[in-house]
Amino acid sequence: MSLNIPFIIALDGPAASGKGTLARKLAEYYNLALLDTGILYRAVGWNVINSDGNPEKETDALKAIEKLPDTDLQNPALRSESTGAAASKVAAIPAVRKALRDFQRQFAYNPPENKAGTILDGRDIGTVICPETPYKLFITADVKTRAKRRFLEEFGESGTEEDLENILEDLIVRDERDTNRPMSPLKKAEDALLIDTTNSSIEAVFEEAVSFISNKKK
Ligand code: C5P
Repeated sequence: MSLNIPFIIALDGPAASGKGTLARKLAEYYNLALLDTGILYRAVGWNVINSDGNPEKETDALKAIEKLPDTDLQNPALRSESTGAAASKVAAIPAVRKALRDFQRQFAYNPPENKAGTILDGRDIGTVICPETPYKLFITADVKTRAKRRFLEEFGESGTEEDLENILEDLIVRDERDTNRPMSPLKKAEDALLIDTTNSSIEAVFEEAVSFISNKKK
């Protein structure tokens, strides 16, 4: 590892693939500062909707970025699948991606002094935000499995068959939009380790990731 580049883990993958859970475990294990980059796009999407704007319109999305410093990133409404859909619309606008890029790089390359490095999870961390890091992971899972996970997260035991169907449809549309947008599409970096979490436990996925990262660190 070059002395000038801090320890950065780039973790990408589609919605509800398990990357958030893995990111938190890796952050704890390696003592890293964690940035869930999806929350930035979610906050922008949320701000657009709340001001009755159109998440596909550049001017509305850019106005929403200005409100970011006053947005409560802990607001549970940001986590809903409907906010995810708005996020993926604003995320397809190149000016939005450019505006959020510097913040993400700044975070990645400037870990707080008490941290050994940083970990960012998103869609384009290994390909666009931090392509220099050798520690790249791409996490995926079958879309039906991902829909079931998101459904349980959002509705617990009280969800209906229809809620599950709606989430599945939303995820399919979101995957399609994220994968096919011209700028920074969801894509595995060539040198990223691919982990499919469909039939794996969190522990097994964590161990595979740690073994890949630790081997590269040697
Ligand atoms: O990861 P999460 O589901 O919270 O992301 C919400 C949306 O934000 C994604 O569907 C994607 O469109 C967008 N996003 C992105 N690039 C990132 C992180 C999220 O385009 N690095």
